[in-house]
Amino acid sequence: MAIEAPGARPANPRFSSGPCAKPPTYALDKLADAPLGRSHRAAIGKDKLKAAIDETRDLLGVPDDYRIGIVPASDTGAVEMAMWSLLGARPCTMIAWESFGAGWVTDAVKQLKLDATVLTADYGRIVDFAQVDWDTDVVFTWNGTTSGVRVPNGDAIPADRGGLTICDATSAAFAQDLPWDKLDVTTFSWQKVMGGEAAHGMLILSPRAVERLESHTPAWPLPKIFRMTKGGKLIEGIFKGETINTPSMLCVEDYLFALAWGRQVGGLKGLMGRADANARAIWEFCESRDWIANLAEDPATRSNTSVCLKFTDSRIADGASFAKAVAKRLEAEGVAFDIGAYRDAPPGLRIWCGATVETSDIEALLPWIDWAFHAEIAG
Ligand SMILES: Cc1ncc(COP(=O)(O)O)c(C=O)c1O
Repeated sequence: MAIEAPGARPANPRFSSGPCAKPPTYALDKLADAPLGRSHRAAIGKDKLKAAIDETRDLLGVPDDYRIGIVPASDTGAVEMAMWSLLGARPCTMIAWESFGAGWVTDAVKQLKLDATVLTADYGRIVDFAQVDWDTDVVFTWNGTTSGVRVPNGDAIPADRGGLTICDATSAAFAQDLPWDKLDVTTFSWQKVMGGEAAHGMLILSPRAVERLESHTPAWPLPKIFRMTKGGKLIEGIFKGETINTPSMLCVEDYLFALAWGRQVGGLKGLMGRADANARAIWEFCESRDWIANLAEDPATRSNTSVCLKFTDSRIADGASFAKAVAKRLEAEGVAFDIGAYRDAPPGLRIWCGATVETSDIEALLPWIDWAFHAEIAG
């Protein structure tokens, strides 16, 4: 029996989990105001960088006494800069339940050679935060992009903790509520929920993190691009837009455009609402089918950005080839780009639901997943 293809296609088939879709109103000519060919240290460049910091603070609701810096090497750069600069002063706990968190464990244990307590959970599950000793420094990922499992809230993190919390929030920021009083270091990249460009990282520091920076000298060497202090004092300029090395002013302009768009769609509430609506459409799709399910086992931990799905039909002999074939069919039809599961994750699909994705595009994609699944099962 031939399986009929749906009539409508998503207007935008870009569902990649990073770089993510550009804001719907995006066009390259919107970047015409970029100060190209000018120094980032000239007033015009500095003003743009400062605006990127100020508008990030405003949109995310970051407290006034937290520092926000633009740093090299995207989210990875921001996380490693924090780990290399802050860890070693007290015992540390590394928490991971998917590939990116596992990467930070490797950094701590194999590179920094810290005697860390390592707490892990399998794909689809999360570590029990009640087991964590918050008097140690704790490194974790808010939204596990490769498993679609997120921290539901910050309730388990005590306000009066002794250690610092270092949180990779790259696929959570602008889509999930981040409890600033529970986070000492928060990092993200422009390339995720806001649909900006990669290469630049955002590093947000609480006053306690700054205190640590000024009182602790790491036991290992720090390259120039990680150094945030001079003579035991924070280099305040970094947090006003005086970047450590040269940023791309084109990327800065692109991020400023994304922030302005974020404001137009209702600010943080609007952005979170868009991600929620996208994810909900997929959750409902899964609930009414017995051959596909969310990889996240506990509904409270289901991501509203990187929604990861697994095929559960008993007729499937080779899960990895089946999922790859479904993703390939969808890509060949031009209805979904880049939705295969992450290379280290269980086989399945991963559909980005961050704010730049239109719910109408998710809704148009879902019948195609039905189609691709049945076509593939039929062989
Ligand atoms: C949770 C998480 N951490 C880190 C990264 C790496 O980000 P970047 O390539 O922007 O450094 C990613 C990218 O997908 C991610 O999802």
